[in-house]
Amino acid sequence: MEKLNILFVASECYPFAKTGGLADVAGALPKELRKLGHDARVVMPRYYGIDRDKLKKLPAPLGVPMGIIGEMWCGIYEGRLPNSDVKVYFVDYELFYGRESLYNDENSAGFIDNDNRFVFLSRAAMQLCKALDFRPHILHTHDWHTSAANLFLTTIYANDEHFKRCASILTIHNMQYQGEFYSGLMNVLDVGWEHFNFREVEMDDKVNLLKAGITHATMISAVSPKYSQEILTPEFGCGLDAAAQTRANDLWGILNGVDTDEWDPKTDRHLSVHYDAGDLTPKLTLKRELQKEFNLPPRDVPLIAIVSRLVKQKGIDVAAEAIHDLLSMDIQMVLLGSGEVWTHFYFGDIARFYPKRFACKIGFDNALSHRIEAGADLFLMPSRFEPCGLNQMYSQLYGTLPIAHGVGGLEDSVQNYDEKTGEGTGFKFYGLTAKNLVNTVGWAVHTWYNKKDHFLTMQRRAMSLNYGWERSAKTYELLYKEALRRAQKRLF
Ligand code: ADP
Ligand code: GLC
Repeated sequence: MEKLNILFVASECYPFAKTGGLADVAGALPKELRKLGHDARVVMPRYYGIDRDKLKKLPAPLGVPMGIIGEMWCGIYEGRLPNSDVKVYFVDYELFYGRESLYNDENSAGFIDNDNRFVFLSRAAMQLCKALDFRPHILHTHDWHTSAANLFLTTIYANDEHFKRCASILTIHNMQYQGEFYSGLMNVLDVGWEHFNFREVEMDDKVNLLKAGITHATMISAVSPKYSQEILTPEFGCGLDAAAQTRANDLWGILNGVDTDEWDPKTDRHLSVHYDAGDLTPKLTLKRELQKEFNLPPRDVPLIAIVSRLVKQKGIDVAAEAIHDLLSMDIQMVLLGSGEVWTHFYFGDIARFYPKRFACKIGFDNALSHRIEAGADLFLMPSRFEPCGLNQMYSQLYGTLPIAHGVGGLEDSVQNYDEKTGEGTGFKFYGLTAKNLVNTVGWAVHTWYNKKDHFLTMQRRAMSLNYGWERSAKTYELLYKEALRRAQKRLF
């Protein structure tokens, strides 16, 4: 296949900035595309936590037209994704990105200038291509934060010679967050008010950036096959199902992969001992270490983990409702996460109430998340919706069986336990209620205690699954090819 120039435009990218799985994807997929011979690069903000001293500053500042605000100038730094020669460009604009947090203030409310912050990033990406004389065949944006770039390509840059052979892809990681802003943002986008209509950018009299991306991208992907179907329905479409339906023929579902440089129990640098499907005994050492770290007694009971953003999407309210029933079983639970403020108090209280059974750490801690994946026996994901979900894949590779609500990527990537044959890689339930959750945890706990052979076989099977990025990267390659074909023929 022809070598493609691919520009990822992302609001977060591991290891530089991460709040969730989008960062994992933006940090891994370009590396895999590079291995396939493409020139993939990433553009992202230079947030406060990203050390400029470790990066190279490009000599000339970049001018970014911001419509009614006028032209704004920013610095550009260049770095590399670890273990690769994939270039990452950091848009340096102190006033927008010089903050500890990526999106929200200390009260978990979105920053009031998020509209300008991310329109700026999207427009800077376009301008950067020209400044570097990088001619992308594919502009690949992610979620609402960068979907203005899809709109720019078909409007402001439609007849720009520099983007003559460029198609754009929008990957939807989460339909719930849409980037809805006051209509005056049209004057900053500067694409012309004629695009402020229900078929393109407007939704409920506001600018809806995700909608603009959905309607203007050459093609769209969602991060699992199941989610690509779900977003066409009112239940999961979050009001944009009709817009998504108009693009149903241009919408693919591609399951995310796992970056095995980061997530592999044989080599994980955050673990004191390593293990594989052939011998799981070191996993017990890691369980004891985890119990110690969380101040739980070193008992031989199933240890169930949650690592999550503590928000309704993840069904954390249902877990909260079920928690007393769950802890009436002879189990232990550990929880790592942060999110809605009430959860911090609630689970803190639960930990005080059940000191021998439940422990939690509120916060974001990457190394600890690895130790939890390795040390736990079971991993709980009662997500209300889950576009893909990475933790169930990490869990399976670490022999930590997921207990999951069968939606989105959880449905696509967890094979339900069959008591008769012993097949499966996890425990699934349908219908998100506290009762169903408790019953399914009970089922998993019962299996752990009473069907040890089945449990071990499932662990081995889960650990042998191939979640590497190779396969998905090849599917993205096909998507890019198809998008280019449609863009050339103006078929979208
Ligand atoms: P989402 O992106 O919706 O949050 P994913 O399952 O796709 O869900 O990705 C979540 C990623 O963020 C995983 O890599 C997970 O380990 C990580 N993560 C979530 N919360 C924490 C936390 N509190 N500390 C460390 N890592 C976390
Ligand atoms: C979003 C989704 C999650 C997905 C991740 C990476 O944050 O909530 O399900 O795994 O993006 O695509």
